[in-house]
Amino acid sequence: MKTEWSMDTKIIHESQFPDPQTGAISQTLVPAVAYAFPDAETAAAVVAGEEEGVYYGRYGNPTSRTLEKKIAALEGGEDALGVSSGMAAISIALLGFLKHGDHVLVTKDVYGGTYSFLTSLAPRFGIEFDFVDCTDIDSMIKAIRPNTRAVYIETPSNPRLTILDIGQISEACKAYQLPVIVDNTFMSPCLQKPLELGADVVVHSATKYINGHGDVLAGFIVGKKDTIQFMRKKLMGDLGQNLNAWDAFLILRGMKTMALRVERHCSNAQKIAEYLESHPFIDKVFYPGLKSHPQHELAKTQMKGMGGIVSFEVKGGLIEGKKLINSLQLAMISFSLGDPETLVQHPASMTHASIPQEERMKFGITDGLIRVSVGLEDADDIIGDFDQALSALFSASETKIITK
Ligand SMILES: Cc1ncc(COP(=O)(O)O)c(C=O)c1O
Repeated sequence: MKTEWSMDTKIIHESQFPDPQTGAISQTLVPAVAYAFPDAETAAAVVAGEEEGVYYGRYGNPTSRTLEKKIAALEGGEDALGVSSGMAAISIALLGFLKHGDHVLVTKDVYGGTYSFLTSLAPRFGIEFDFVDCTDIDSMIKAIRPNTRAVYIETPSNPRLTILDIGQISEACKAYQLPVIVDNTFMSPCLQKPLELGADVVVHSATKYINGHGDVLAGFIVGKKDTIQFMRKKLMGDLGQNLNAWDAFLILRGMKTMALRVERHCSNAQKIAEYLESHPFIDKVFYPGLKSHPQHELAKTQMKGMGGIVSFEVKGGLIEGKKLINSLQLAMISFSLGDPETLVQHPASMTHASIPQEERMKFGITDGLIRVSVGLEDADDIIGDFDQALSALFSASETKIITK
């Protein structure tokens, strides 16, 4: 018998046991806020984090604790913290390392909410930042300042699917004693394990692939035990950003199928990316599974699969891009990703609208860029939908665009 379970088995069994009282296999939902202790000494030890246990709902509950242990094991970290959204995870992770007067280096194309937090809220607390191209490690190192305290990356990035070399970045940062924080949302632990590659902290929007059903907002931070304990007490607890028991229960339920879902997201996305790349009306396709992707070789070594997100630029630009998504009949226009349904969005006017146009262009988020979160439907049906929308656009503006 193997002593170490594989990822697919861990996703189902890790940290979960039948309820000792009832034998129930599905996770018990514990909504209690308050917990009783046998004596004052035990209560004090739990509050201090010296003994495992929960003491007040704002600092965690037994259902979210089960989930935290599972996520920590899947990511290969010492501990994990479940919080109320992906943005709660990102802001807590950054505030866990940064204080007034500190500086953080951030890869240049990050999720719009991360950009907004760094550019509008963090400066109010005296935190400085620089966006750098982390595909170029030398320029990243040159941007390190004496007050730099962390490096924050997202790979693959949203929405350009830029792949960063987590191992190389982590190694370079170790020489400067800089912790590396990685947003692993697009991959899920099924496809990429940043801590094994040398990173220090992983953050997730569990709203996406981890829950996978579009009905929960949640986030996770994974890292060293003392880092997580500090974030639990001083950030999540004091800011009141906890994950509630009901949402933790739904995630534990949704996660049982994560390995299967992620596999199908990847195979569908590969087919859609290849179809789009071969279409005469598409200018560029961004998908790490395509040979044309600039970091395709790196993606093959760092990731177990290429993920479910495909971005592309339609010939023409903004107007054509918007017309195209308006013509889709199966795929829905929506802000989220990682759901069973195929979702499309226009980053310039939707998820990344908080980034001024000039800055967006520097990050490669052009006006015509469309992001597709490829769902779990039949791949031919998704392709058929894009085909009919592209044909409608093509016949409407054939002469105008094809000559460009
Ligand atoms: C890569 C990435 N990180 C973080 C977030 C934020 O997650 P949430 O909406 O759960 O706060 C998102 C949301 O789309 C995202 O795409």
